[in-house]
Amino acid sequence: MRNDPCWCGSGKKWKKCHFPHKPSETFITTAEIYLKKYGIILKTAEEIKRIRKACKLAASILKKVCEYAKEGVTTNELDHLAVKLHKEANAIPAPLHYGNPPYPKAICTSLNEVICHGIPNDIPLKKGDILNIDISCQLNGAFGDCSSMVAIQPIDEEKEKVMDVSYECLLRGIAVCKPNVPLLTIGQAIEDFAVTQGCSVVNQFVGHGIGLKFHEPPEVCHHYNKIDILMVPGMTFTIEPMINAGVREGVIDPKNQWEARTKDLKASAQWEHTILITDFGHEILTLE
Ligand code: MF3
Ligand code: CO
Repeated sequence: MRNDPCWCGSGKKWKKCHFPHKPSETFITTAEIYLKKYGIILKTAEEIKRIRKACKLAASILKKVCEYAKEGVTTNELDHLAVKLHKEANAIPAPLHYGNPPYPKAICTSLNEVICHGIPNDIPLKKGDILNIDISCQLNGAFGDCSSMVAIQPIDEEKEKVMDVSYECLLRGIAVCKPNVPLLTIGQAIEDFAVTQGCSVVNQFVGHGIGLKFHEPPEVCHHYNKIDILMVPGMTFTIEPMINAGVREGVIDPKNQWEARTKDLKASAQWEHTILITDFGHEILTLE
């Protein structure tokens, strides 16, 4: 091992090149390898501080917007509230103008059969609706991303179930997170549980690295997969399982090219947190 050529491609022996001698060097070495091999940015202590602040802000905006979501309120009104809260905090809503075609609003509001990326509109919420509200903020060059479900009671049993199962999926996905565990374990834990509950796991959309950019490598699959990248301290990523009552397949709206609906138009639900891998386990960053 020590006499093997260094992973960096210098042609020198590993022991004479990137061989770690101190804990801080181990981190630097791992960070170089993760960047080179996977494009994954391991975060420094200073970066983690900023990311934690962006995440706490996202969580607090999410809480306020969820509290405001009641029967008769439109998702555009929720969007306007989110814009105001970002402004007051000197933050930028990350979704606004993101991607291609540019996303038109500050938040995502995914109603009933909408899997994700629902665009706020002028239709009032009504009894029986379930709504995912997804808040992603940029603050001081750092990003945080989280989402929750809101139910406009009373809701039917199928919606109740998909909301509960998706929340449990998020918790089970988070629970396996610690150093040296492969990322594929998250999808394993989530799909194992969802399937026993008679629900399906969306495989068209995934969680993602986040922190210094809105979306960074790696992809974090919520379904069975073979991504054998090991979690290591300093990794920051989202877990955001989208769970369907019926089939897993989704169809993207051909008009706006963002909103994804279940193919069978049955209900879908999602919850999301941003997670940091620590030396001994994980920290949920998107808690208030
Ligand atoms: N949490 C969602 C995601 O990471 C937020 C999407 S915002 C959008 O995909 F702009 F991409 F729609
Ligand atoms: Co996300």
